[in-house]
Amino acid sequence: MARFWVCLAGAGFFLALLVLHSRFCGSPVLRKFAFQISWRTKEIPYRLDVGWPKYSEYFTGATFCVAIDSLSGLVYIAQRGDNIPKVLVFTEDGYFLRSWNYTVDTPHGIFAASTLHEQSVWITDVGSGSYGHTIKKYNSFGDLVQVLGTPGKKGTGLNPLQFDNPAELYVDDTGDIYIVDGDGGLNNRLIKLSQDFMMLWLHGERGTGPAKFNIPHSVTVDSSGRVWVADRGNKRIQVFDKDTGEWLGAWNNCFTEEGPSSVRFTPDGKYVIVAQLNLSRLLLVAAPPVGSIGNCSVIGTIQLADQVLPHLLDVSGKTGAIYVAEIGAKLELECDARSCSSHHGTIKQQIQRS
Ligand SMILES: *[C@@H]1O[C@H](CO)[C@@H](O)[C@H](O)[C@H]1NC(C)=O
Ligand SMILES: *[C@@H]1O[C@H](CO)[C@@H](O)[C@H](O)[C@H]1NC(C)=O
Ligand SMILES: *[C@@H]1O[C@H](CO)[C@@H](O)[C@H](O)[C@H]1NC(C)=O
Repeated sequence: MARFWVCLAGAGFFLALLVLHSRFCGSPVLRKFAFQISWRTKEIPYRLDVGWPKYSEYFTGATFCVAIDSLSGLVYIAQRGDNIPKVLVFTEDGYFLRSWNYTVDTPHGIFAASTLHEQSVWITDVGSGSYGHTIKKYNSFGDLVQVLGTPGKKGTGLNPLQFDNPAELYVDDTGDIYIVDGDGGLNNRLIKLSQDFMMLWLHGERGTGPAKFNIPHSVTVDSSGRVWVADRGNKRIQVFDKDTGEWLGAWNNCFTEEGPSSVRFTPDGKYVIVAQLNLSRLLLVAAPPVGSIGNCSVIGTIQLADQVLPHLLDVSGKTGAIYVAEIGAKLELECDARSCSSHHGTIKQQIQRS
């Protein structure tokens, strides 16, 4: 018999939700089965992981985004603020490794794209300084490898490529790059680039009709070749064929209260995790199988503490843990004569079934 346990974690600016695996007496095959039974009975197998990170004192700014490199077990977090490290690197276990701020102005989105040969992390930078209006690729230690866009200059150009408030990107296994540009600037575009940065297709119009956008804020690609875009200002998710760019459909009905800020899949591809910023809420939505996306169906919600404002999130492909960057959470330090400990604004999470 498999016994289910759920271990999750949350902390400060930063909340980590971890799926706990079944622990027990049995083969790995049985373990996986236990996990599916839990989903089928509609339990939400997430819990706040109060042990993550080990030390939250590293969060000295406002946390805007997070990327998990499951292959290497690394968590990259980007924060904004003056005279602070902008990118923090932790292990998935919650230990701090290193940080950098060299060439990072105002981070908005982040993506980890590691292969067996290369660990890399991409950042969209919405700053207006000399490093802003760009998308940058770094290695795991913060060395700048590639810059897309015209540093320090916003624009609408395609050749050379220019951005204004680029929101997020996704890099798939083949190296193809999907960019949403952007977060309320001049552009409302979804761009697909090849790994050598040639444009493969583009949807570039502001509007409310199919394949038009109003603040395309987050992008991800599923295992059946569909590109999912959180079209925040239009309160919908739009879906495209990744090869042709063809519009496949939109979900409106789950987002009448507030548009989606972030969109990610669980590793089994069965659920879409969506953040709603001002509602301080995560939605677990059933992911449709290949083909028509149909209507949106919320399976459960995770209500975070008031005003923590979940901005962007990522899901570990290995553990299924959800990591949420909360731009509104406040870290409070409590000190006595000997030491300081931190209080987290996010302890009040509730998990509800809908
Ligand atoms: C970079 O981070 C260091 C701390 O790691 C800080 O002292 C320095 O002021 C930061 N620089 C900038 C430009 O923010
Ligand atoms: C959240 O609320 C602020 C302040 O009212 C507003 O400016 C912003 O557009 C809202 N964001 C979303 C995603 O609804
Ligand atoms: C979606 O919902 C609408 C309105 O309830 C309904 O008319 C339509 O048939 C539904 N579509 C699918 C694919 O379920």
